[in-house]
Amino acid sequence: MTGWVELLWHGKRSREFTRESIDEHYGPLREVRRISLPFQRIELLGIHKETLTPIFPQEDWPQNYPKDWKNLLIWGDNLLAMSSLLQGIEVNGERINLRGKIKLIYIDPPFATGADFSFKVPMPESWQELMPKNEIVKNPSIMEILAYRDMWGGRTPEERIASYLNYMYDRLVLMKELLADYGSIYVHLDYRMVHYVKLMMDEIFGRENFRNEIIWHYRRWTAESKNYQAMHDVLLFYSKTDNSPINHVMIEPTPSQKAVIDRGYNVNVVHEGGSKVKQLLVYDKGKVENLIKSGKLNPKNYDRIIYVDRSETAAPDVWTDIQFLHSQSLERLNFPTQKPEKLLERIILASSNEGDIVADFFSGSGTLAAVAEKLGRRWVCCDMSKYAIHVTRKRLLDIANSKARGIRVEDESKRPKYGKPCRPFYLVTIANYLTDRMTNHSDAIQLALNLYGASPMKQPFRHLHGLREREKEVVHVGQANFPVTPAEIRETIAEFQETPFYRDGWTLVILGWDWAPDTFERARDYWEKQSVWLKLLHIPPVSRIEEVLKKHGIKASDAIHLEHAFDEEVRKHLRFVEPGYLKLDVHKDGLKVTITIKDFWVRLPHGYEDLEEEIRSRIESAAKDDEKRRYFLPLINYWAVDWNYDGVVFKHDFVSFDRKPGEGNVEVCAVHTYPEPGTYRVVVKVTDIFGGETSRELELTVGE
Ligand SMILES: C[S@@+](CC[C@H](N)C(=O)[O-])C[C@H]1O[C@@H](n2cnc3c(N)ncnc32)[C@H](O)[C@@H]1O
Repeated sequence: MTGWVELLWHGKRSREFTRESIDEHYGPLREVRRISLPFQRIELLGIHKETLTPIFPQEDWPQNYPKDWKNLLIWGDNLLAMSSLLQGIEVNGERINLRGKIKLIYIDPPFATGADFSFKVPMPESWQELMPKNEIVKNPSIMEILAYRDMWGGRTPEERIASYLNYMYDRLVLMKELLADYGSIYVHLDYRMVHYVKLMMDEIFGRENFRNEIIWHYRRWTAESKNYQAMHDVLLFYSKTDNSPINHVMIEPTPSQKAVIDRGYNVNVVHEGGSKVKQLLVYDKGKVENLIKSGKLNPKNYDRIIYVDRSETAAPDVWTDIQFLHSQSLERLNFPTQKPEKLLERIILASSNEGDIVADFFSGSGTLAAVAEKLGRRWVCCDMSKYAIHVTRKRLLDIANSKARGIRVEDESKRPKYGKPCRPFYLVTIANYLTDRMTNHSDAIQLALNLYGASPMKQPFRHLHGLREREKEVVHVGQANFPVTPAEIRETIAEFQETPFYRDGWTLVILGWDWAPDTFERARDYWEKQSVWLKLLHIPPVSRIEEVLKKHGIKASDAIHLEHAFDEEVRKHLRFVEPGYLKLDVHKDGLKVTITIKDFWVRLPHGYEDLEEEIRSRIESAAKDDEKRRYFLPLINYWAVDWNYDGVVFKHDFVSFDRKPGEGNVEVCAVHTYPEPGTYRVVVKVTDIFGGETSRELELTVGE
């Protein structure tokens, strides 16, 4: 049997074994891969546009919060992000090396339910009459599918568990290296994986550094089950060394504790020097004196009287006072696995101090970032899902409107708003998803060519893979396990320009499974300069291809060899679509510039082709701008303008976003007055409700 998971212990098997003999038999432990990649794209947020100084006044920052620090939100695989942070990486001229610097790591890794990569995105009300359900399911991207396979690949449950443990092992080893000597880590799991991970954590962090198994018990509605209802998660709490202290955490007493406190006293027995000592614990002196006066309590019955303040109790390792986030909760951000801020508040308060660096490498909707920000901690967060990153960015930019943390309130509904802006943070990207599980590249190319209706190139080219003669198109196919990058497009264009096809005015088509950030914009700039006819098209998602092939009785393995075998009937269900577009209107009046969004569109996920066509035709036939906007504006989740782009860091000068998804209340115009005449590079960036980005770069001359 392959892929088994077995716990070994001395005496379990008939032959003696030692650590060395195991190494000899099974080979030494696998080295953790450490690939350090540069951060590619950089955005800087939380700063004043003119002065580039923090919006949050620095005099109000905690004392030991370094004034030049910028928090980090990283989009990419955490293995790459952590390796890079350990080896040191440059961001906008600043060198960042976090080896041994992080005080607290909290992670809430996904469990193989797939729930983290598929989302239901609520749709605009103006579309309601056109759709049966007011939501669209966003399927995972190819990078997310590959990550999911890496994490949970295998034919048998055992193989899948082993794969999950390998995935976690690599990451936990790197986390340990990032932790400071007095640092702590909390790993949030549920009943399915906790026992395996506990043993692995013992191995990596040392059993002596295991501090607590925290049970977070919550109530929620669940479907009927043959078993007891699962209503708890587990947090494994380890420290890097066995003497890292935690800050005292006091919580509200439970109702039964409260009843005892209300009575005014309690009784307990402690053992001292081999004898029992009976104690009277007095919580309310007045009440106890009355009870003594009335003869209901006799102090002589006790060996000792102790006066204690019991408005709070020390937090135990079972947490029952933190509510699960229900679908209607105000804190909800339309992120399925979002955790409550109160949970993160407790952990951050216990295991870090103001100014410390705290991190979450599976950060989802950015709960740790938001709470760390409110509690004056520095933070580093990473997620590989584009959608998660844009939910987090928006959450931080809107943090003033969320609830304050770090204060106790009698009534949660009266918790005040936080009311402050976020401190500066970088959003950086590591877009390459590297995997050993290379799908056979030539098969994937052949399949994409067949689906697109192109035939393979007869001559050996490096980047040019196929031809569609009737349409006069030369085709390049991106790799299935790697997003198409601007560099790849540049090389393809260079090769294309050497061919007679270029001279005869053919079009170069790039088919991609996924795209590195900003690819469209950078490719567009480049090809315009090179005067090449270029078309970038998305290859339909694998799930869609499989579905269509199955419907037509074609096996995917055969499809690779079926050159020209796809007739129009099959292909019309497989759309190769162009990326979204953004049309802007620019109005100049002296030094003042107004940019208006005239039209915006993103590709709807597969399965919604008819809806997309219907809505597009409504937009095109609408006579008034208002009417057009009603349909396209709700697709915009967030947009921003950098009025003076330096070519490296995108600075969020103008920002507008939809507070509630699908309501379409983003602004349509951005206005700016330049301090002096000149020619400026302006970048407009739009994030759509599916987490995709479309941007435009303009060159504006003002005040001529
Ligand atoms: C359970 S969610 C975290 C939810 C988060 N605690 C919150 O409050 O919103 C797990 C997250 O891990 C991310 N993820 C999974 N594998 C990853 C990887 N290799 N690198 C970075 N992020 C990853 C997923 O995209 C997902 O957003």
